[in-house]
Amino acid sequence: MDRDWKSELDELLKDFGTRQRDTIPVLHEVQRHFDHIPPAALPVIARRLRVSESELYGVLSFYKAFSLRPKDAHTISVCMGTACHVRGGDRIVEELEKVLGVSAGKSTPDGMFTLETVNCLGCCAIGPVLVLDGVTHARITPAAARDIVGRIRTGEKPA
Ligand code: FES
Repeated sequence: MDRDWKSELDELLKDFGTRQRDTIPVLHEVQRHFDHIPPAALPVIARRLRVSESELYGVLSFYKAFSLRPKDAHTISVCMGTACHVRGGDRIVEELEKVLGVSAGKSTPDGMFTLETVNCLGCCAIGPVLVLDGVTHARITPAAARDIVGRIRTGEKPA
């Protein structure tokens, strides 16, 4: 998803202060507006408040009121154990990296998707295996993986 975080934040925060002491009110406003703190917005907020991103992460991890992930965020885990790997697990990961625009181990800028790889999930006979939000999808293909992401993005239930 391409979103102009900078313009949106500038508009949202135009009446807020730009000092370190304004960090909490600014983060509350961003959380209220987006329902989470989008990771892509952190560099913009840090510059605005003249603090480092690591200082912001420190505040975010201290206060439970803030979340870097939307409530309806999704985690996609692709098995890269030997059995799944030889059946094309690596091609599933490559396809998802392309579709999501992030490498494995990362979240999308809006925090909606996290892509990760895992080792053997114990169901090698039905590999390659992908787990979406705790639900196992068997004998997955790159096209099926792309379809799953597409369905989530359009609000459909993944098949
Ligand atoms: S290697 Fe993927 S489930 Fe075992």
